[in-house]
Amino acid sequence: MTSATPTPLAFPADYPARAVVDLEAVRDNVRALAGHAAGAAVMAVVKADAYGHGLVPSARAALAGGATWLGVAQATEALALRAAGIGPDRARVLTWLHAPGAPFERLLAADVDVSVAAAWALDAVADAARATGRTARVHLKIDSGLGRNGIVPADWPDAVARAAALQAEGLVEVVGVWSHLAFADEPGHPSLDAQADAFDDAVRAAEAGGLTVALRHIAASAATLTAPRLRYDLVRPGLAVFGLSPAPQVGTPGDFGLRPAMTLQARLATVKRVPGGHGVSYSHQYTTPQETTLGIVPLGYADGIPRHASGGRAGVGGPVYVGGPATAGLGPAAGGTPDDGGRVVRVAGRVCMDQVVLDLGPYATERAGDVVTLFGQSDGLGHAAAVPNAEDWAQAAGTISYEIVTRLGVRVPRTYVGAHVLDEDPAATTGTQTQEPAAAGGGAPRGPARSPQTTQWEEATWS
Ligand SMILES: Cc1ncc(COP(=O)(O)O)c(C=O)c1O
Repeated sequence: MTSATPTPLAFPADYPARAVVDLEAVRDNVRALAGHAAGAAVMAVVKADAYGHGLVPSARAALAGGATWLGVAQATEALALRAAGIGPDRARVLTWLHAPGAPFERLLAADVDVSVAAAWALDAVADAARATGRTARVHLKIDSGLGRNGIVPADWPDAVARAAALQAEGLVEVVGVWSHLAFADEPGHPSLDAQADAFDDAVRAAEAGGLTVALRHIAASAATLTAPRLRYDLVRPGLAVFGLSPAPQVGTPGDFGLRPAMTLQARLATVKRVPGGHGVSYSHQYTTPQETTLGIVPLGYADGIPRHASGGRAGVGGPVYVGGPATAGLGPAAGGTPDDGGRVVRVAGRVCMDQVVLDLGPYATERAGDVVTLFGQSDGLGHAAAVPNAEDWAQAAGTISYEIVTRLGVRVPRTYVGAHVLDEDPAATTGTQTQEPAAAGGGAPRGPARSPQTTQWEEATWS
């Protein structure tokens, strides 16, 4: 195949919107992060349904990019990864947010590493080890200054002594000491050094207490990209795996060698002419300044479109790319093309549960059924891109891009492109993918996506 020209993906026949998830982008982002990690191992954080992108396909794409660890907050997420066939030979899995009653026995049986962030958890994990006959692989979490989950320094010596005693009994193996940062998105913030010092103290105390700390980890996306001192043995990026910038004031996705993996599109449900002075949507927060054309987008806050991204008197309004090709916000795996004459309009009036309204302007030529792009594979409107990205929506809503993608509603179908990466062996993969994509549904079993939303497996057709 010398000149591969991807043709556009078919839009779902039975739903007027879709989130296209580009698994090549996930793989490539992890490769880029591994480069930033400079020798540290990569744990791809795939909690919260992989930030809305779909747990299992995202995890597999991250492994294809060279991640050797997967990180999740909840035990159920870790168990879902194992149930999907991602065994300990393929990836170590760490889960870190537990309350009393957590299913530690099932986690140990599934060979999942567990975080211990409180004294009660150490005892509960030891009980599970006794019950299952399996040694618990534990990562002791120090609260080095975030002030969230983790053992405070005052309680650390007791926790270390207890862990060492349980380790001597063969019930636990402390494989790591870890922590999380408060100001990682502000490179140079003085708390970063203070947390690093507290973390180093905790590691030294663990070692002095008889533990061997093989894995130290504290860096999530932002520190992986901007703070070499904090990379230690393992980095835990989440947002950057999905191609969004964890520190937009520092750099765009492209600046960090990343590209957004999700493109959110919808078909215009209705296009209609209205006179000037026409109120739009609940509370008439927007009034048409002249005779104009309105377009109805069938996505609303039930789909994760933030109500804070309402427009008019209600605010600046979330940006939507209209009038250009449906392929403009997609990446190469989905047949993406450059912008071709489209424009960005802002949400007019209140975001409703199922829909938003656009003022397409007096000269609009759009028709019902046309595809519009809310956000896609782009560096963002402030950076000469024609198509918005999730960060543009975050700014319109006064939030962070994490929330934009993670809250995408379950009823929005995910269409996966680049699915051929799921079966790649990172050790055998060079930087360039020249192979023709496998047919959708081909290859080894991918395991069930945990997400309840409709899942489609698509490949752009190569001609
Ligand atoms: C403990 C922990 N580590 C890593 C991450 C990944 O963070 P990020 O998405 O900023 O890379 C998170 C996410 O919030 C987290 O809670």
